[in-house]
Parts: sequence; C-alpha cells; structure tokens
Amino acid sequence: MAVLEIIQPGNPVLRKKAIRVMSFDNKLQKLVDDMVETLLDAPGVGLAAPQVEVSQRLIVVRLPDDEESREEYGKEAGKLYVVANPEIVKSSKAMVEGTEACLSIPGFYGTVDRHESVTVKGLDREGKPIRIKAKGWLARVFQHEIDHLDGQLYIDIAKEIWRARPEDEEETIAE
Ligand code: NI
Repeated sequence: MAVLEIIQPGNPVLRKKAIRVMSFDNKLQKLVDDMVETLLDAPGVGLAAPQVEVSQRLIVVRLPDDEESREEYGKEAGKLYVVANPEIVKSSKAMVEGTEACLSIPGFYGTVDRHESVTVKGLDREGKPIRIKAKGWLARVFQHEIDHLDGQLYIDIAKEIWRARPEDEEETIAE
C-alpha cells in the first residue's frame, strides 16, 4: 500500500467528470487500498479518486473512530465505506448547513447546505451492489465526495469561505 499525492485545483483532473468503474480487478483493489491509506494518513473523512489524479467514479468514506464520534454516530464511527459508481437515489427535502473542508483545498473552510439525509446506491470493491442510508455528517460526506466525481468542489456552492485559524484544526476533518 502507498500514500498517494492529493492534487489541488490547479490540476485539471479535479475538474473533470470521472468515468464509471468497469473492472474490479487487482489494479482497482490496489487503488482502493492506497486511497484508504491516503485517507487515514491525511487524516480525512472522505476521499474521491479524482483527488489522487484517477478520473474514476470511486470514493472512500470513514467517520473518525474516537470516543466522541462513537457517542454521536454509533456504529457509523470508524466504519469504512468503499463505493464505486455511487449515485444518490433519494435525498431528504430537509437541508442542513454545516462546515466543510477538503483535502484538495488545504487551509480553508466553508459553509455548505446539504441534504440532511441521502440514500446512496453503488457497488462495493468486489462489484456487488450496495445501498447506504446516511444522515447527518455521513450524508454530508457522501454528497461532498460524489460532487468530486463530477468535478464539483465545495467552494463552488459554499455560502461563505474562510481561511483556517490554528484553533479550527481540531474542529473539522477534511474531505
Ligand atoms: Ni473534498
């Protein structure tokens, strides 16, 4: 496994519409392993393949596994989601405002409205169909990561963007 380089908006791959994953071969398994390692190393809560310069529809998501997260998110805390070709098939009317950051845009935060809950359909790393019902922070992370697959960044839709102060660092984990 290897920690991959996370690209920034100067790299056009981040703005491209990514193509669907067609083959769940060894090459894809290595990419998944490397993306998970990169996500944990960053550390972040979500990573999309275009962020490591691979223009494919693949995301990894994992909320932190600390005591506070376990209290708030229960079994979702620390659970690893690997989703190929993810699609939001259902989303709540209710929107919630929250703070986001992105591993591709270090040093900034923004306020973004997202659906409070979403249902995500896709394939797991073996190519088997999966369906995930996500709410709260998990739903936010899925929306952020799926946007990456269409070349969209949170700064495109943020109501407000600000530079991180040192004391912000522990508040939000980037996606
Ligand atoms: Ni991001």
